[in-house]
Amino acid sequence: MKENERPYVILSAAMTIDGKIASKTGDPELSDEADWREVHELRSTVDAIMVGKGTIIKDNPKLHIKYYDHKGYNRIVVDTNLSIPLNSNVINFQPKIYPTIICTSENVSAEREKDFESKNVKIVKSGTGQNVDLKKLMPILLNMGIKLILLEGGGTLNWSFIELDLINEMRLTIAPWIIGGKEAISLVEGEGFEKMTQGRKFKLVKVNNRDNYVILKYMRRTE
Ligand SMILES: NC(=O)c1ccc[n+]([C@@H]2O[C@H](COP(=O)([O-])OP(=O)(O)OC[C@H]3O[C@@H](n4cnc5c(N)ncnc54)[C@H](OP(=O)(O)O)[C@@H]3O)[C@@H](O)[C@H]2O)c1
Repeated sequence: MKENERPYVILSAAMTIDGKIASKTGDPELSDEADWREVHELRSTVDAIMVGKGTIIKDNPKLHIKYYDHKGYNRIVVDTNLSIPLNSNVINFQPKIYPTIICTSENVSAEREKDFESKNVKIVKSGTGQNVDLKKLMPILLNMGIKLILLEGGGTLNWSFIELDLINEMRLTIAPWIIGGKEAISLVEGEGFEKMTQGRKFKLVKVNNRDNYVILKYMRRTE
């Protein structure tokens, strides 16, 4: 397998009109039931759902499917030092249907690793830096049979994917309100690019709307 071969990545998020994916206190309740149904349908088509450590700590999501029959998939958490709580839903809720993989750095403590392995969590190590090396990680995941990843945030992890140009497609829900607040997490956080010309460009391929919600589908534009 070549090093630049990697899984196809779809970024999925719900945001306010002003681009926030949670309020300043961390309230993430943006989707209505129709939106959750669509997101769960999309989840039923992927090999893995990936989130950052911040999302696990703030929301404690189960990352499961409520509305459809499906084959199950992997839940992937990006957590450099294995610091999410062992009692997180992502580890304890239906692990047979949704096996959990935690991606860490190579410096993670062996003791902590054992604690997670005893809960049947698979640990994948990538890089020795301050964060997980995503560029190195992607071919490793592909090698494990993960061809299609649904990236479900949060803003910090989304930035790393944008920065490294690892996103192929996006499904965005715009919920019909404005929440404001510079402490409220945006769709993409991180350092940001200096110039518009450095930004990643996407092609709008589909627009749906219902009950004041807008659902957008974008593909990465490389030309
Ligand atoms: N509305 C939506 O669709 C939606 C979806 C998901 C999340 N959210 C919201 O987003 C918020 C969480 O976002 P967040 O930005 O705080 O956290 P996040 O993006 O979920 O997680 C970021 C953390 O992941 C770890 N990480 C490890 N390697 C990384 C890398 N290469 N790049 C980036 N991160 C890496 C870092 O912690 P370590 O350094 O400790 O490893 C980093 O602080 C929550 O409030 C949640 O409700 C909303």
